[in-house]
Amino acid sequence: MSTLHNESCSPPAVIVIFGAAGDLTRRKLIPALFNLAKQELLPEQIAMVGIDRVEMDSQGYRDLLGEHIPDFVGEGFSRELWEANIGRAYYTAGDFLDDDSYRELARLLQQVDNEQGTPGNYLFYLATPPRFFGEIATRLGKAGLATEGDGHWRRIIIEKPFGHDLESARALNATLHQSFEEHQIYRIDHYLGKETVQNILTYRFGNGTVEPMWNHRYIDHVQITVAESLGVEGRAGYYEEAGALRDMVANHLLAVLSVIAMEPSNNFQADAIRDEQVKVLRAIQPFDPEQVLTEAVRGQYGEGVLDNGTHLRAYRDEPGVAADSGTETFVALKLMIDTWRWAGVPFYLRTGKRMPERRTEVVIQYRHAPNMMFRDSIAQRANIAANQLILRIQPDEGISMEFNAKVPGTVLQVSTVRMDFDYDDYFEESVAGSGYETLIYDCLCGDATLFKRADNIETCWALLQPILDVWSALPARDFPNYPAGSWGAAEADELLARDGRQWRRID
Ligand code: BG6
Repeated sequence: MSTLHNESCSPPAVIVIFGAAGDLTRRKLIPALFNLAKQELLPEQIAMVGIDRVEMDSQGYRDLLGEHIPDFVGEGFSRELWEANIGRAYYTAGDFLDDDSYRELARLLQQVDNEQGTPGNYLFYLATPPRFFGEIATRLGKAGLATEGDGHWRRIIIEKPFGHDLESARALNATLHQSFEEHQIYRIDHYLGKETVQNILTYRFGNGTVEPMWNHRYIDHVQITVAESLGVEGRAGYYEEAGALRDMVANHLLAVLSVIAMEPSNNFQADAIRDEQVKVLRAIQPFDPEQVLTEAVRGQYGEGVLDNGTHLRAYRDEPGVAADSGTETFVALKLMIDTWRWAGVPFYLRTGKRMPERRTEVVIQYRHAPNMMFRDSIAQRANIAANQLILRIQPDEGISMEFNAKVPGTVLQVSTVRMDFDYDDYFEESVAGSGYETLIYDCLCGDATLFKRADNIETCWALLQPILDVWSALPARDFPNYPAGSWGAAEADELLARDGRQWRRID
């Protein structure tokens, strides 16, 4: 969020990427570094060291990155800028589990500091499969690379998934804490890096008119939808083990919920904000096993056909997926938050793969006006809709308010109209970035606001653990239970219908 620093705060540093030859590095991290350089947000003395198992030298690595970067950066790519910066990329081949790799890394880092004038500030980015997170952190510690001092810092960014349940998340935190202190650990949730998610805080707390109505007196319920049109896209190995609850709810959806539901902090310091987020997550009513059966819905897509006639295969027919897979590709939940602000206000969450379109949005459904003065009029008979605020996270980023207006004419008729704020209308800067630019930049600047603390991660897992337990004890018998290209399992509609509510229609 770059909350605590001005625009050129990043000190000289070396960014060390574990998993340097992997997909995340090529698709997201290198383009993000390029974009930061383009925005002139990186200092003159900045370097990058890649480490991975693939045998090649630094020049080979530069060539490899150069092949794909224009595609991944897209429109704003400049060959000149790339050439000017790529010379600061180094590479060392190494096994993440071999102590020798870390001795070699330490030697290379000395060399880079000498050649590039960097002062020993190292940001270790773990873009690796999760089984390596603890192993790498421990070995960095053993090699002395995690130790701060003499005016230099050491930081580590951990990608998701952070554990696969409460116990493993706790164990990983304990392992990390043996080598790094909490202030050195930056746990990524790229949703927190999204402009539109950050803007929720500005919208709520930067406007005097919003907060007074942001509570149970005015809000009937909240809906958080993260719909993806894509399927598992060649990640079946990971996804079969994870499923939608671990892949999306445990991190991204609860992150968005925490920003929507948190209390204002009394300042903009990272820990003040993160304290409030953890507080509200802790206030979510825990599920007992009975509730899991009624308030947590799971789904898996079968084959389906899109409106344009495209045929989509079933999840169980995706390469690498078991023919009888019980992995959920869709989740819907009802959560209640035990605070004065949110008493009695349900939060309905849903996320799924192979939905009709890609759409992330938060709907604040306001209550009806307390007294309808249009009694006996046509308007009253037409059942006037309550106001809705829609925070459009992606794509088509913006905020919309739906409210009622009089239809011009002699007879009183009321119709719902919509007021739209679109980012494109006001700002030249793009909001559609991956979020990685902000997160890498913030980490270089030492601003942890948008990163998850250990207690946040563990609170999220503790909340979801009863669901994981019940679902693993009672495998779903009705999978697949929604066609690819639809809005998910019918039970998700019933979850709201039972409460006399319905999901906002997205079209
Ligand atoms: C990742 C999940 O964290 O987020 C993916 O592992 C998912 O399964 C992705 O597709 C969604 O991110 P975005 O930014 O495209 O909404």
